[in-house]
Amino acid sequence: MTAPKPRIFSGIQPSGELHIGNYLGAVKQWVALQDQYECFFCIVDLHAITQPFEPAEMPMQIFDMALTLVAAGLDPERCTIFVQSNVPEHSELAWVFNTVTPLGELERMTQYKDKAARQESVLAGLLNYPVLQAADILLYHAVAVPVGEDQVQHVELTREIARKWNSRFGEYFPEPQAIVGKVRRVLGLDGQAKMSKSIGNTIGVLETADEIWEKIRVALTDPARKRRSDPGNPNVCNIFSLHRHFSSEDDVAWAEQGCRSAGIGCIECKRRLAENIVEALRPIRERALALKEQPDYVVEVLRSGAERAHSVAAQTMTEVRRRMGLRRGAELAEAEAE
Ligand code: AMP
Ligand code: TRP
Repeated sequence: MTAPKPRIFSGIQPSGELHIGNYLGAVKQWVALQDQYECFFCIVDLHAITQPFEPAEMPMQIFDMALTLVAAGLDPERCTIFVQSNVPEHSELAWVFNTVTPLGELERMTQYKDKAARQESVLAGLLNYPVLQAADILLYHAVAVPVGEDQVQHVELTREIARKWNSRFGEYFPEPQAIVGKVRRVLGLDGQAKMSKSIGNTIGVLETADEIWEKIRVALTDPARKRRSDPGNPNVCNIFSLHRHFSSEDDVAWAEQGCRSAGIGCIECKRRLAENIVEALRPIRERALALKEQPDYVVEVLRSGAERAHSVAAQTMTEVRRRMGLRRGAELAEAEAE
């Protein structure tokens, strides 16, 4: 028998479409890691509800995210794809971890500080968000977590929560490592902040050629390059950084030299980029269109994924309860007899 593969876990919120920041920062790595690891990929609806949301839209958003992940290359034969709220142990372990997590650690999380600063009244769920994330990861004893750079701090906190719980109740949880790929952080089309649905500076992986062009056409370039005859600086141009992600070496060199020498105009440079993005995303879009004709298949992927995830999560929670003296029914009588 071959040794079992090490496990990885990662999650994505169903709030909005999969964008090229998620794709390059996280999902592309997930696709690549499927053979090396036993993989659990989770659509984290319980995390999504820490932000304003519309209940009537949630089921469709979850479904669309599942469909897009499969279209992007997650293979349900080789990995487990499921919805967080379908496995109630996530919430239960999160509560347990709340009892070993120092408040100060949560208050210093960058994502919390950013999001809290944008809200008038800050809800406890936003603060406790990384505790639920730790529960997600540790329920499966995942040793590695492939994410974009913005999530590294949460994985570090997960390690600390594992240490705290282990030191009180005995060695049980591993300390997972974040795996951050080459593309650590994709900037948004505004060129100011990371690409993020909540800022509205995204390109969705399923957008049409026209939609992509309309967004690229008006995106910011080097602000110092005002006229076609001004030479530009590719290093401060977000269009150029996107060329690096989506264009061939030849096209990257063409854009770099053309910009520096004012040999090409921004519009030309943007046209080439838009074409290359459309080409790179074409297979995902085509698979998504085909999957839209088979909704039952996507539903079945999530059903069997939840079943598989639940079988692992339930075992972990039984052991957690046992170690914490939280026994049920007949187990209470057994403890009495011991
Ligand atoms: P989210 O959409 O916040 O659930 O993020 C899902 C995954 O995509 C996480 O691993 C994030 O780190 C990653 N991610 C989100 N936005 C970006 C970005 N602009 N650049 C790189 N990675 C990102
Ligand atoms: N917080 C992550 C994000 O916004 C999503 C997430 C939830 C996650 N649980 C996770 C990522 C567990 C990795 C592991 O991107």
